[in-house]
Amino acid sequence: MAYTANDYSNLIGMEGFSETLLTNHFTLYQGYVTNTNKVMDTLAAMLKEGKVGTPEYAELKRRVGFEFNGMRLHEYYFGNLDGQGALDQSGKLGRKLAEDFGSYEDWEKDFRGTGAIRGIGWTILYQDNVIGKLFNQWINEHETGHPAGCIPILVMDVFEHAFITDYGLKRADYIAAFFKNINWGVVEGRLK
Ligand SMILES: [Fe+2]
Repeated sequence: MAYTANDYSNLIGMEGFSETLLTNHFTLYQGYVTNTNKVMDTLAAMLKEGKVGTPEYAELKRRVGFEFNGMRLHEYYFGNLDGQGALDQSGKLGRKLAEDFGSYEDWEKDFRGTGAIRGIGWTILYQDNVIGKLFNQWINEHETGHPAGCIPILVMDVFEHAFITDYGLKRADYIAAFFKNINWGVVEGRLK
C-alpha cells in the first residue's frame, strides 16, 4: 500500500512563516513521501527477483530509515502547528512536564537548547513508552537518535530549509516563531 502526502495548506498564513517557506517545505515533504514509496517498491521487487544479499539491496534497506522518517517526522511537525496560545500548565501535559523537568520553564529551556544544537535534524519531545517519562531528544538528519518504541509528542524541524528563507541563520528566532504556533491540543493528545 502506497503512502500519500497530506495537505497542510491550512498552515499558510501562520504568523512568522512566509508562504514561500511553507510551500517549499511542503514540496520537500512530498519528495519524502514519493521516495519512501519508491524505495519500498524497489525493495519488494528485489525480494521477488532474488536480489536479497546484494550490496544494492543493503544500501536501499539503509535508505528506508532516512526517507520514511523524513516523511513521518514532517507529518508530526506540520500536524503540531497551526495553534495559538500557550500550554495550559495545569493540564495533563503541563503537569507531566513539570513532574519530569522540575518546571514547564525548564522543559522549554531544554527543548529550545536541544533545537539550537549545531547540525541538521529534529528536536523531539518523546514519551518513554515503558515508564512514561518525557525527555527531549536530538535527531541527527531524519533517522539517527530515535529512542526505540518511544512516542513523539512535540516535533520541531531544525533543518535549515525549515527557517533560512525567513530567518537566515537566526535559528533561535525561528524557534520562537515555532513556539507561537504550537497546537497544544494536538500535542497533548499524543500523550499516553
Ligand atoms: Fe523539513
